[in-house]
This record gives sequence, C-alpha cells and structure tokens, in this order.
Amino acid sequence: GLDISTLLKETGYVTLDPGFVNTASCTSAITYIDGDAGILRYRGYPIEELAERSSFVEVAYLLIYGELPTSAQLEDFEGRIREHTLLHEDFKAFFSGFPRDAHPMAVLSSAVSALSTFYQDSLDPSDPDQVDISSIRLISKLPTIAAYAYKTSIGQPLLYPDNSLGYIENFLRMSFGLPTVPYEIDPEIARVLDMLFVLHADHEQNCSTSTVRMVGSSQANLFSSVSAGVNALFGPLHGGANQAVLEMLERIHQNGDDVDGFVRRVKAKEPGVKLMGFGHRVYRNYDPRAAVVKKATREVLDRLGKPDPLLDLAMRLEEVALNDDYFVERKLYPNVDFYTGVIYKAMGFPTNAFTVLFALGRLPGWIAQWREMMADPALKIGRPRQVYTGSPERHYTGIEKR
Ligand code: ACO
Repeated sequence: GLDISTLLKETGYVTLDPGFVNTASCTSAITYIDGDAGILRYRGYPIEELAERSSFVEVAYLLIYGELPTSAQLEDFEGRIREHTLLHEDFKAFFSGFPRDAHPMAVLSSAVSALSTFYQDSLDPSDPDQVDISSIRLISKLPTIAAYAYKTSIGQPLLYPDNSLGYIENFLRMSFGLPTVPYEIDPEIARVLDMLFVLHADHEQNCSTSTVRMVGSSQANLFSSVSAGVNALFGPLHGGANQAVLEMLERIHQNGDDVDGFVRRVKAKEPGVKLMGFGHRVYRNYDPRAAVVKKATREVLDRLGKPDPLLDLAMRLEEVALNDDYFVERKLYPNVDFYTGVIYKAMGFPTNAFTVLFALGRLPGWIAQWREMMADPALKIGRPRQVYTGSPERHYTGIEKR
C-alpha cells in the first residue's frame, strides 16, 4: 500500500531519469496533452475551439481561475488589468541602462525580476490578495515592458499605454506607434496575434513552467519565479526556437533554397544542424498548435499582401521531412514554433523579439501553474536527488605534493 515516493524513500533507492522523460513532478488540473493523438486542452477545452472563439484575456482567466468567466467576471478582470498597465516612472531608467543591442529576452527577464523591487507590497506567496495583485500586475505590465525594450533597442520614444484600447491593441500601439503619428490598428492583425497568444498560453510541465514551479517551491515570490521562467524560455530548444527557425529559413534561402541539401545535413547530424521547429518531447504527432498557425500564416500574408518566400520554403521543408524515414521513424513533426516566425515577421516584429512574444503568451500558464502549486497542501520544495559518480573518499594533500 506504499506510494512510490514513500517506497523509494524507505528503501533508499532513487530513480534516475535525466530530462524527466518519464517522471511526473506534480499533479495538475490545468492542461491536458495527449502527445500521440496530438490533443491539447486547457481546463478541458480543446485548443482549436479556444483559438477560434475565445480571446487571450479570457483564456488567461480560464487558466488562472479554472472556469470561463461570466461577462461580469470578464469585465472586472479586464478592468483590473487596465488599471495596472503603467510602469513606475523610475522603471524606465532600466531600459536605457542596457546596451542597445541587448537581446530583448535578457532585458525582459531582468525587468520582470526588477518588479520585485518596485512592487514590494505584493511579494508574499502566502497572502491570496498579494498573489492576485502580483498576477494582475504581471499580465498588465508585461506588454508594456516588452514594447519598451523594443522601442529602446531602436531608439524610439516610449509610448504610455492607452487604456481605452484592448490588451493586444495596446501592445501593438506601444510597439509600433509613434507620438507624432496616429497609429492605425489592423483588427485582423490584432485578432491573429491574440490567437497566437491563446495557442501559447499553457503547455503543462514544459521547461520554463517547471522552472517557475521549481523556483516558487522555495516560496520565492511570483515575479522572481516568472523571471526564472523567462530565462528558461530563452533557450533555442524551448521558446528560442521561433527565432532559430526564422534564422534557419533565411540561411537556407540564401543558399539557393537547397532544402534537400539541408535535410541531408540534419540527417547526418552535423554539429549544430537540426531542423528547428521540429520535434517535441510530448507530441509524437502533428502539434495541434502548429496546424492552426500554419493556416493563419497563409491568411495573414495574403491579407497584408506580403508574400514571403520563407513560407513556401517552410512548407517544402515540412513536406520533405514528413516523407523522410529519418523524421518518420523518430516521429518528428512541426511544433508550434515552425510557422510562428513567418507571421511575426509579416507583422513587423524583428526576429529577436519573437521569443518575447512567446513569453507574453505563456505568462498566464506560468501564473496558473505557480498558483496551483502554492495552493496544494502537499507542496514540498523541489529538490531532485542524484546518482553520485565522483571519487570515493580521499585525503587532502598539500599543494607541493600534487
Ligand atoms: N532535428 C533533427 N533531429 C531531431 C530533431 C530535430 N529538430 N529533434 C529530435 N531529433 C532526433 C534526435 O537527434 C534523436 O535522434 P536519435 O534517436 O538518433 O538520437 C531523436 O530525434 C529524439 O530526439 P531527442 O532530442 O531525444 O528528443 P527530446 O524529447 O529530448 O527533445 C526537442 C525534444 C528538444 C524539442 C528536440 O526535438 C529539438 O531539439 N527540436 C528542435 C528545437 C525546437 O524546435 N524546440 C521547440 C520545442 S517546442 C517548444 O518549446 C515550444
């Protein structure tokens, strides 16, 4: 009748599972994935339905509070988000303090970490009101931080948030608007960006979310935990893949669109050559998010009248890979990052901002997972064991004898 962890503790055995390929770190009621069938659901709702019918702010509410909001609840939630979009004036000095060419993900994680210094009244993880206000502050301020990081990098003035606008529209205006020129928001672009954020909003115990939970398990505050998640997302095997995909497509394009030659190099496992945007730890089937993004990419390029040879190239690459034994045997399919870069580029975002967009989308998931963990009476500090492979006991020798 002993559970596995008690059994292992009592017998002194540990499981060795590098990369946690088969080890669950928690129970969770937020997101369901069936990787073989290519199914993703938030709180039971299929991702395809949410992408088509819901909105990012509504999905944030769903993930954090567990149910879709009534219209009064949604209005209240949106109102609270609007109230907190401004950053403290002194916070602005932060952006000019970094080198202009700093990667925006590095700026973002530093800025999120700095929220703990500016908003000291919401740091106590055991106080539900403080947890709630820090959640709202993060959702409200992350787009402002992301837009300010971008504006600073291109030497343009920072725009204050305009709270008469919706969440996505406000972010687009702060990113692309100028104080001297009225900024016209393309509602179709705003709709697609909103949908992309919905698709990214949670993905159960991925690398960054596990990081957020691990840091939070020490009772670190929500800002500190989320900034650690941003850092985990930065890596090219995780959120950084959307940037890496676009750079890969550009390199292949410059090499005369030699798709077959590139695929040969991937299969030969040349160091550093991977088909970025392909493969996933959990999906052994087409990533359902990638299917939605692929369709949207074509629609956005058509709407903007901006055909991009990189989209045709990506589609050819996908076709070649899906018909090649190497990828078929390993069950490697496009993941969410394979097509997003082409859309973000068409919307006008620079390549190094793509992972920041992923972070904006993933934020509600990080918050929901952190809160679920904190509310769990069985919460224990995350502390994996190891299998020691070093030297047996030996004795110190003075430096002259070594
Ligand atoms: N290109 C070429 N070969 C690949 C790729 C790829 N993109 N992905 C996996 N493989 C191969 C591996 O070399 C390995 O081959 P082997 O059995 O001959 O050794 C096999 O497929 C299994 O791959 P693993 O690396 O063991 O799979 P793992 O679950 O550890 O890694 C990961 C998953 C990191 C996503 C991997 O597929 C990858 O590096 N993909 C490219 C980066 C990427 O797109 N990341 C985004 C992931 S989605 C996200 O975070 C939103």
